[in-house]
Amino acid sequence: MGKTFIMLGIESSCDETAAAIVRDDGTVMASQIASQMDIHASHGGVVPEIAARAHLDSIDIVIAGALRDAGIGMDDIDGVAATGGPGLIGGVVVGTVTAKAIASARNLPYFAVNHLEGHALSARLVDKVAFPYLLLLVSGGHTQLLAVHGPGAYERYGTTMDDAAGEAFDKSAKIMGLGYPGGPAVEMLAAQGDARAIALPRPLKGSPHCHFSFSGLKTAVATRHAALDPDDPAGPANLAASLQAAIADCLAERSSRAMARFAETHGPSTLVIAGGVAANRVIFARLSDAAATAGFSISVPPAWLCTDNAAMIAWAALERRQQPDNLDFAPRPRWPLDPDAPPPPGRGVRA
Ligand code: KG4
Ligand code: ZN
Repeated sequence: MGKTFIMLGIESSCDETAAAIVRDDGTVMASQIASQMDIHASHGGVVPEIAARAHLDSIDIVIAGALRDAGIGMDDIDGVAATGGPGLIGGVVVGTVTAKAIASARNLPYFAVNHLEGHALSARLVDKVAFPYLLLLVSGGHTQLLAVHGPGAYERYGTTMDDAAGEAFDKSAKIMGLGYPGGPAVEMLAAQGDARAIALPRPLKGSPHCHFSFSGLKTAVATRHAALDPDDPAGPANLAASLQAAIADCLAERSSRAMARFAETHGPSTLVIAGGVAANRVIFARLSDAAATAGFSISVPPAWLCTDNAAMIAWAALERRQQPDNLDFAPRPRWPLDPDAPPPPGRGVRA
């Protein structure tokens, strides 16, 4: 074994400016996150131009904070990693330029990390899950099922044909006047509601592929919300619970199909859930049942590692620390994990 490798990770692809220090044995020495949630909340979503400026304001502060929390100096860092895409390009540029500047000034290896790979490998940081495993990535921008064979080796089974699951939560919450981000607000309200009270569709349920579709659900929520009886105080909670149940059903059914496909070739393995929506307890319970039925174990990174953070970016770079990137890497707004995957039937594909 060589000397310990300490990676500085930077994440700035959406609305969190984050820096983390992670050691090659998986020790997270520091993880700082500056959230822009308050800045974007009044707009009901992330405004790219405002996000890019806010990243610029915070990036030095979170890096200095992470070094301070870890009790080390820049001299102790062995490599610098930053999210190189996919995401809002202004933010990705801020993180990329910062990482390149540190790497070139300090003569350190630089790693351009795919944000989705950060989510995909985060379970290995805490659970040491062995390859290959099946990943359900459920965030505000992505809903994908992927067979993870190793760093850089992904086979996409399914993706969303329209909205992501987190987007369905966020857009429905906006319709219901619950604010942003919608997922936690819907989950909280749903706890007081009856999930069987309002019938909502289960898009693509039973279809032979592993793709997702959520935009019809959002439309149904709009219709049902407009039809709520203003004299029924339970209406909003029932709608929130019914929405959450519909999303949970879709995720569980699509994941079951993917687990069956994965097991045909590799046998049962682990279903890893990553991304912000994985924090939802009802969804986790449904997916746990589906995994148990398929003979899979389940792994969900802790909440702080499920939502956007820089520890997962540092870890993804550590998984391939012998293969740094060139400093001429260009940020990528779109960067699919499996570029050869066939597109889903119907409309366009998200990265
Ligand atoms: O992974 P993430 O932090 O950011 C990216 O999109 O990359 O995911 C954010 C998404 C948002 O859509 C948010 O509403 C959703 O995750 N989310 C939840 C919950 N917490 C966050 N959705 C459902 N239930 C939750 N408890
Ligand atoms: Zn993310």
